[in-house]
Amino acid sequence: MEIISNIKELQTRCLGTRAAGQIIAFVPTMGFLHEGHLSLLREGRKRGDLLVLSIFVNPTQFGQGEDLDCYPRDFERDESLARECGVDLIFYPDAESIYPPGYATYVSVEGPLTTSLEGACRPTHFRGVTTVVTKLLTIVMPHVALFGRKDFQQLAVIRRMTKDLNLPVEVVGMPIVRETDGLAMSSRNVYLSDNERKESLALVGTLRGAADLAQNGELETKKILSIAQQWLSAGDSLSIDYVKLCNAHTLEEVAIIDHDTVMLMAVKVGKTRLIDNGLLLG
Ligand code: PAJ
Repeated sequence: MEIISNIKELQTRCLGTRAAGQIIAFVPTMGFLHEGHLSLLREGRKRGDLLVLSIFVNPTQFGQGEDLDCYPRDFERDESLARECGVDLIFYPDAESIYPPGYATYVSVEGPLTTSLEGACRPTHFRGVTTVVTKLLTIVMPHVALFGRKDFQQLAVIRRMTKDLNLPVEVVGMPIVRETDGLAMSSRNVYLSDNERKESLALVGTLRGAADLAQNGELETKKILSIAQQWLSAGDSLSIDYVKLCNAHTLEEVAIIDHDTVMLMAVKVGKTRLIDNGLLLG
């Protein structure tokens, strides 16, 4: 397994791979890998001749006062997990090479797709994500890039961006990987205290409870959300950022739910902000 930090070197390597007619599969991450990331790598392994993983804690997608400085990092552990998944190459750049002095170019997807939900709570977040993902895609030049549905809105924004910019990459969305008790895996779960870890189950509990309501015929958003809000408030450490029912393609809020309705939520558990989502009639 190769580890490359230099952008030019990686571009040359990837251009050579493409010229040889080989397929490049790419999984961008911020590291501190868990089973969610590994599921993307395993799928990438099947789809590509060259499997590239990037590990870069991207400063531009963190807002003021967010957890950029304490975001968990463990490169050695990531390296051995990546090797086990058959990764061929890790791209591991530093912040100065991605954003050198004088850097001034940003990519942003406009409109409700980026201003609603996560965008309403974290106004500069998606601009940082779309900028870095565009840069990573132009450096790695993959045929296929894999993203998790855990970050449902991020996936929708990236699909929009690659379509609008005619980027020649297939974007693949992968299912949410959960702990055995249902908590969606996240690098941020390590922040949770024992009590917060217990209370964090309110998120998946609410998704499952809402799906039960819908499957039993309750299709009115207002009613489902009022019950969901109670479930998501039933813990001392819980505070809701948002819980919404949206169309899975447009992310517009819906009044009556159908097979395309996804419940999306962000909840602070103590100081840790967790997100989760799921289709209600899927
Ligand atoms: P990160 O949070 O490290 O996630 C990397 C990828 O793993 C994303 O596509 C994310 O949706 C996916 N992922 C995370 N947890 C998952 C889970 N439990 N199940 C399935 N997939 C999961 O998302 C980012 O990094 C960054 O925003 C990035 C796209 C790398 C740009 O900086």
